[in-house]
Amino acid sequence: MTGKDSQTIDTAVLPRHVAIIMDGNGRWAEQRGKARTHGHKAGAAAVRRAVAFARRNGIQALTLFAFSSENWKRPAVEVKVLMELFATVLNREVDELHKHGVQLRIVGDLSKFSRRLQEKIRQAEARTAANCELRLNIAANYGGQWDIMQAARTFAREVEQGRATADQLDESTLASYMCLHDCPAVDLLIRTGGDLRISNFLLWQSAYAELYFCDTLWPDFDDAAFAQAVNCFVARERRFGLTSQQIKTLMAGGTLED
Ligand code: IPE
Ligand code: IPE
Ligand code: MG
Repeated sequence: MTGKDSQTIDTAVLPRHVAIIMDGNGRWAEQRGKARTHGHKAGAAAVRRAVAFARRNGIQALTLFAFSSENWKRPAVEVKVLMELFATVLNREVDELHKHGVQLRIVGDLSKFSRRLQEKIRQAEARTAANCELRLNIAANYGGQWDIMQAARTFAREVEQGRATADQLDESTLASYMCLHDCPAVDLLIRTGGDLRISNFLLWQSAYAELYFCDTLWPDFDDAAFAQAVNCFVARERRFGLTSQQIKTLMAGGTLED
């Protein structure tokens, strides 16, 4: 059941929230002698597969990094294709997502997108808002530093307008202004494509996430690869600052001594 190549997962302590840095599209295409944009199109099929996997396996929330705030610096043609692909996928997939009870949210600084794309996003979110099978977040023009900054700015406005004082700001208050404040914290953060970095993804929300890096390029990330990541997560001991002994006591239903 938990075999390495198995497509099934051990349901003992499943991650509630999985976030994925979907990296490696460009290299996948280059290995085939094709343009990088070909890799992004193949990446869209892997997105569909990952969403279905999360849904079937009872993961509550899946957050996919589709376009970072730094990705605007790529060649103009690549950015253009990525924007077009984003709009096409939204058009094509929303019916299917809705049919399967997926609630879709797009997180990031959406003000940089065309008005038309912003309107499509708004409609897709409104249409799927009442669904509760899976919460799917697509991070687009997202940056973890931007997210923390916009939360701080929103709180500063509250102070400016006399609705809060600076002393009222604590971790949970700031968290309530951040993207994904209505999702559990990230349990498992996966990065495909072989690089070992976070690339300004969910900095705040991943504070205690288990990190999982694999060499698989994103278009090749299939059910077996996803199951392997989840099974690796399940086998880890999360301690949250406690000792291993304390964790064992809690798992056995006991309470901690002072
Ligand atoms: C990730 O794949 C997708 C985006 C960043 C939009 P890349 O395009 O970064 O692929 P590599 O890392 O160059 O192979
Ligand atoms: C991270 O991938 C962003 C996305 C997957 C959307 P990049 O390919 O942009 O990351 P870096 O620049 O190599 O760190
Ligand atoms: Mg990359």
